[in-house]
Parts: sequence; C-alpha cells; structure tokens
Amino acid sequence: MEGKYRELHRLQLWRQLDRSWDPRRVFPVEQPLYLEIGFGNGEYLLRQAVDRPEHNFLGIEMHWGSVRRCLRRLAQAQSQNVRILQMDAHVAVRYLLPSQSIEKFVALFPCPWPKRDHERFRLFSTEFMGQLNRICRQGGLVVTDHRGLMEFARQQVAGSGLTLEVIETEARYNTKYERRWSGQGQEIFFELHYRPEAVSSYQMVPEVSVRTLTLDSFDPENVVLEGCLEGIVVQFRQHLYDPKREVFMALTTVIEDHLNQTFWIEAARKEGQWHIRPALGGGFLPTLGVQRALELLQKAGQPR
Ligand SMILES: C[S@@+](CC[C@H](N)C(=O)[O-])C[C@H]1O[C@@H](n2cnc3c(N)ncnc32)[C@H](O)[C@@H]1O
Repeated sequence: MEGKYRELHRLQLWRQLDRSWDPRRVFPVEQPLYLEIGFGNGEYLLRQAVDRPEHNFLGIEMHWGSVRRCLRRLAQAQSQNVRILQMDAHVAVRYLLPSQSIEKFVALFPCPWPKRDHERFRLFSTEFMGQLNRICRQGGLVVTDHRGLMEFARQQVAGSGLTLEVIETEARYNTKYERRWSGQGQEIFFELHYRPEAVSSYQMVPEVSVRTLTLDSFDPENVVLEGCLEGIVVQFRQHLYDPKREVFMALTTVIEDHLNQTFWIEAARKEGQWHIRPALGGGFLPTLGVQRALELLQKAGQPR
C-alpha cells in the first residue's frame, strides 16, 4: 500500500472546502486553469500536465478507485500543476466552482447512460452546460463514442449560452476507454466543441449559513424521528444517546438536486438548553436540506 498514493496534497477534500474556495489559488504557481471531468485513470490529465507546464489542471472524478490510480501516477511523475476533486461533477458545477475561474473544460468518453430511465444521470444537460458556461471562459470539448449521447448534447445545448459544433473524428486521445472502443472495431468518434455565445444565465447555488437550533426540553430516549420524502428528502437512519454526556446523535441523509449527503446531527445539552447542529468532523456542504434536517429534528423534540 505504501507509495501508492502517498502524496495526498493534490487531493482537495471538497466536504471540507469553504464555499469561497477558489481552485486558482491551490497551485504553487497561479497560471491559467483547465478542467478535466471524469478523468478515469488520469493518463490524459497527466499527459496534459506534463506537456503544458505553463497551465494548471483540475480533475474531477467521482470514483475513488480512479482517483487513487491517478494520484499514484501524479506522484510518480512529481507533477505539481494538477489538483483533484473526488466528487460528482453535477455538484461541483452547481455549488463549488466560481464563475470564470477556468479557461476550458474537457470530458473524454463520458458515461453514455444508454438506458432511457438513466438519462437523468447524463452530464451535458442544458443546466450543466449553462453552469460550465458560467465557469469556463472559452467553452470546452467533449469526445464521445456514443451517438445517442451526442444527440442528447445537441438537443440540450439551447439555453446554455454555448454553441455546439460536432465533428466526426478518429481515435486520437489514447485513453483507456478510447482504446477499448477502438479495440472493439469502432472507427468514428464525435468531438463536441462548445463555444461561448452569450453570458450564462445560471448562477452558483447560493450559500446557506446553517443555524444552530435550540430546544428547552428534549426527551432523547423516546424521541420519534420522522424524515421527509417530498422535495428535499431527509432520512434519519439511526440514532444514539449518551446519557452521561447528554449528547444525542442522529445519522441523517439529505438528498437535494444531485447532492446526496450523509452526516451526523447532534443535540447536546448545555446550560439548560439542547443545541441542535451538524456534528463536528463529518464535513458537509451547507445547504437548505441540511437546515431542513435540523428543523425536523427540532420539531420531533417539541412537545406534541
Ligand atoms: C467511461 S469513463 C472514461 C474515463 C476516461 N476519460 C477515459 O477516456 O478513459 C467515465 C468516467 O467518468 C466518471 N464519471 C461519471 N460520472 C461522473 C460525474 N457525474 N462526475 C464525475 N465523474 C464522473 C466515471 O467514474 C469514469 O471514470
């Protein structure tokens, strides 16, 4: 295990990032920043970083296995101009990445989600592209092997403030997935070139400052927690009570938009009152859903 991903400074722990986080400020040298979404094993990301030392690169990838492999590659190459966020790109573009902070994005062979009822997982919806238009100064490039995804992207581009030009191409990016499809005989791929046409009408989701709530009395041994399944989903999964310390903890899942967060809420008795707030240490993005979960716990504790 040792040596596989020893140099963790390239990994940005997004649950612990401030909402005013700016990816331009996390590199040793501030220089134009480029984004790769869904970098997989990171070979293209690393090649770009080595070939273009005058640029910085931010990679977003959802799966830890891929992030781990990429961190190992970056450590071996001692590359200093790459940082990585392990998170869903839908969440990054809505909640985290500041306007005009990035030059261009690239996404190579993204998951096509071919089944109809999985279309909602696709990137490149109007909203996603509108957010990328807000974030990236010069648009960007998607390369896909999948005609259905290309057509979806064409239908969705209107309203994002970007234009889309589709060019047929042959294999030329030399990534794991390109090699896979070429190896299976595919010869034609699609380059989707997005260029800015109008200022994006999409905004970053505004920051919510999560307030600690209080209760004068609370019966932690008999409380019945009820979540909420409509709109913002709140689910109380389990709870614990330490009578010595007078601390009650509820493991809570909140789902809103593309964001799914699981964290502990604590209700602790101090100076005659119960204080309800997210427990320290877990990390969470402060959202309306987090505040809603605190309110539901407060409501459950109020006399009926
Ligand atoms: C088909 S693979 C392509 C990987 C690489 N670009 C290549 O060409 O070999 C798609 C990658 O996108 C990542 N991915 C899928 N959805 C994502 C999302 N919403 N946010 C971030 N990464 C995502 C997957 O984990 C996977 O590594």
